[in-house]
Amino acid sequence: MKITAFTNNCGVLIEEIDLANLTDSDFESLQQAFVEHGLLFFRDQSLSPKQHKSLANKFGDIVVNKIFKTLEGFPEIAVVSKEKQQTTNIGGGWHTDHSYDEEPAMASILVARELPSSGGATKFANMYAAYEGLSEGLKSTLSLITAKHSNEHLYGKGGYFSNTDLSDKLAENVQVSSAMHPVIVIHPESHKPVLYVNKAHTIGFDNWHDDEAFALLNFLYEHGSKPEYTCEFDWQPGSVAIWDNRSTWHFANNDYQGEMRTLHRITIKGSSLAGPVCG
Ligand code: SIN
Repeated sequence: MKITAFTNNCGVLIEEIDLANLTDSDFESLQQAFVEHGLLFFRDQSLSPKQHKSLANKFGDIVVNKIFKTLEGFPEIAVVSKEKQQTTNIGGGWHTDHSYDEEPAMASILVARELPSSGGATKFANMYAAYEGLSEGLKSTLSLITAKHSNEHLYGKGGYFSNTDLSDKLAENVQVSSAMHPVIVIHPESHKPVLYVNKAHTIGFDNWHDDEAFALLNFLYEHGSKPEYTCEFDWQPGSVAIWDNRSTWHFANNDYQGEMRTLHRITIKGSSLAGPVCG
């Protein structure tokens, strides 16, 4: 397996690997790369839905998606799709998957299925690097703050998606949820501090007024999306991305109007998150 930096600070490209036929030692190296880099890109893979599911099961238990429609026969696979005539896309803003759960998702595995002739790339941002780029003063202030995350404003009754032409992509009985997490999390596997807020799902800080919280959150969103922390992955047939939802943000570009784009996503269960300050 050959691992090279995708960009300076954001992701690695892994070559000379067949995700459909991993040996135990391949998977061990893959898991190590996942913990170290948090964002893995692959080209020229051939993964059936069954093989996609087997790959995900190696990482852990699957979170069965309760927001988007799933692939027939595979309730574990969320269909991330935009039809030719639709204008709104899924994931078209900086976010991380499932931060609104008490035990946020560990990883997501996204597989290209049907791609537009151009556009439709996904941007990613490295939240370890974004954290490191903050001053020591702000790091210590943030380490004392707990944030509230929710998805109700997006997927709930009357929420953002119910008023768009993507409403038919939502599951029949969407389940909304909310949770509190430290703004700075000590990553459960790498044990490194990471910035854990995201524009789509963080809705305020515990014990702060909303206007105060959003002034600081907007600063953090600007900071985390600076070019030095981000990269853009252009999908090709056979492309796969695996990312750590605790240490990355992602953003699906919506620049392919009039064309179809479909990817299949499996999300893997994580654990509750702790900050640097205990007790
Ligand atoms: C997602 O937000 O999980 C989907 C990203 C994409 O479609 O590129």
